[in-house]
Amino acid sequence: MDTRAEREILIAPSILSADFGRLGEEVREAESAGADLIHVDVMDGRFVPNITVGPLVVRALRPVTRLPIEVHLMIEEPERYIGAFVEAGAALVTVHVETCPHLHRTLEQIRECGAAPAVTLNPATPLISLEPVLEQVEQVLIMTVDPGFGGQKMIPMALDKVRSLRRWIKERGLNCRIEVDGGVNLDTLAQVLDAGADILVMGAAIFAADGGIQEAMGALRAEIQRLRPALAGPG
Ligand code: DX5
Ligand code: ZN
Repeated sequence: MDTRAEREILIAPSILSADFGRLGEEVREAESAGADLIHVDVMDGRFVPNITVGPLVVRALRPVTRLPIEVHLMIEEPERYIGAFVEAGAALVTVHVETCPHLHRTLEQIRECGAAPAVTLNPATPLISLEPVLEQVEQVLIMTVDPGFGGQKMIPMALDKVRSLRRWIKERGLNCRIEVDGGVNLDTLAQVLDAGADILVMGAAIFAADGGIQEAMGALRAEIQRLRPALAGPG
């Protein structure tokens, strides 16, 4: 019998809430505290109302950590920048369906560049919009806030899509992982895990935690362990 205990829950700290003056140190600290990957939020001031970083920052972080770097592109025309981010060191690139009129082609481009392709949905975008590409992606990112800023409150209705996707993955024997991003913290962890997430992106809950990165990661891991027995099996 499957149990969730057999399924690994990964933590992906989002550097959006890190201190950029000491970015390398903070990423190293997250790694030594047990992070599984590093999540880099790229915003263009057009698709989302904020501007963050480009390939330069991925290149700067690449020698700092052994963890895979995943790049979350919240930009229009992402196909123009995929190559640069992969070359800079991104192991996975996730694009929003809302920005990709030729989604199949864009995902192929990510794979051809040498990174794992993944796709992201805003809270109000229906799950069915990525149904045609499910076999093409290694990961689906379900946004649980409207993207643009760290530290926002979770929009719980988006978790219904996590539940439905978990069911599709099981029924179709798919391999892709489910990642959740936005408002994930100690208080919302139980509902996110119960819905069926594999990977938890967390910015404020890790980098803006009062007690520091180490303590925050420890508390999150402990809570994940505590919740495991109550959870349904994977896929
Ligand atoms: C939001 C970004 C997130 C953000 C999450 O647009 O995609 O990755 O950093 O931040 P928290 O965990 O603070 O909601
Ligand atoms: Zn993100």
